[in-house]
Amino acid sequence: MTAGPPDPIPGQTSTGSKRAEALFGGLPGPRVMVRSEGCRVWDDTGRIYLDLGMALGAVALGYGHPAVVAAVEAAARDGGVSSLPPTQERALAERLVTWVPGAEAVRFLKTGAEAVAAAVRMARVVTGRDAVLTCGYHGWLDWCQARPGVPRADQLLHRALRFNDSGDLEAALAQHPAPAAIVIEPVVEDPPDAVWLAHVRRRATELGAALIFDEIKTGIRFGLGGAAERYGVVPDAVVLGKALGNGLPIAAVVGSRDLLDAATRTWISSTLATETLALAGALAVLDVCEGTDAIAHLQAAGARWLAGCHALAGEWPSVITEVRGVHEFSFLRFADAEVSAAVASAAARRGVLVRRGPYNFPSASHAEDDIQAALNRLADAVAEVAASC
Ligand SMILES: Cc1ncc(COP(=O)(O)O)c(C=O)c1O
Repeated sequence: MTAGPPDPIPGQTSTGSKRAEALFGGLPGPRVMVRSEGCRVWDDTGRIYLDLGMALGAVALGYGHPAVVAAVEAAARDGGVSSLPPTQERALAERLVTWVPGAEAVRFLKTGAEAVAAAVRMARVVTGRDAVLTCGYHGWLDWCQARPGVPRADQLLHRALRFNDSGDLEAALAQHPAPAAIVIEPVVEDPPDAVWLAHVRRRATELGAALIFDEIKTGIRFGLGGAAERYGVVPDAVVLGKALGNGLPIAAVVGSRDLLDAATRTWISSTLATETLALAGALAVLDVCEGTDAIAHLQAAGARWLAGCHALAGEWPSVITEVRGVHEFSFLRFADAEVSAAVASAAARRGVLVRRGPYNFPSASHAEDDIQAALNRLADAVAEVAASC
């Protein structure tokens, strides 16, 4: 057998969590999509799958939502970009500050990682400090990663906090007594403890550090006020992404005037941060969320999915060891990596894409029947795997 040409995309795809290895281990499963609509995905052989992953949570209303598509088509017909900033930028900013607690100003970027990095840059400008405490995943950029290729000097400037652990925050503050920012995901595997959140808010205020909520997963999905509204804590900035664009590349830092004004005293700018397709798409997302019960529907679908997952875990404890998360996003933990790959592969064979780990993201496009069908197919897949263990 002769070796084929080298893969033109090292690692198979540019989005790590969509690699075949990440999805199915070494086991069979669909490799590429050609089309998506609602909560369904078509692969390159024409097979149709019910999708629970929903593009890593980038899509909350459903793939190809008609209102979003119409807005994008109109924006594309109108040119999409020019040498001047577009009217949609200000329109979207004005809408977002009415929804996000404590917000007065907005800056747009293209990806979640960029937007969290921008918020951290702003906090460093305002405080004149370097250290940052983090909790959760905040993207691939140097400021928050400790991996090959990240300068050691950068790695020394951030310290990861344990979720829901006030003692660990105090230990981190002993190491970095004057942080520029505390950046937290308000929900990681569980909802936040109210005492912990209040502690984080109080310590950030006492220390003069910016409290930044990374709401890339919770934003929009928890309602337009996000986790800040749900948990009654006002951060200095909220970072939005994913569901804001329903699959279009847009992210935003939405926060206090003091913090956001710092963007003008450093350099935070991107050529296509002001293209109109994503801005118009995000405006359509807000229209849908304000004018329909889409978010309530998403939450009901998520509650149904989560309840079904708990029932499955009760039935098959040797396969599913744990179910974690909230209605809006949750995941199953399996006995080991081989078992999780076997379940994901067996589920795909039955026409459902379920993630092996964090997270599944039920959407507003999942009808009750879709959730039930997905649960039934997952149950069959789990039973098959249990029988072969
Ligand atoms: C909480 C959180 N922050 C930041 C990011 C990074 O966003 P992006 O992948 O759009 O750069 C993600 C992505 O999964 C995320 O879940």
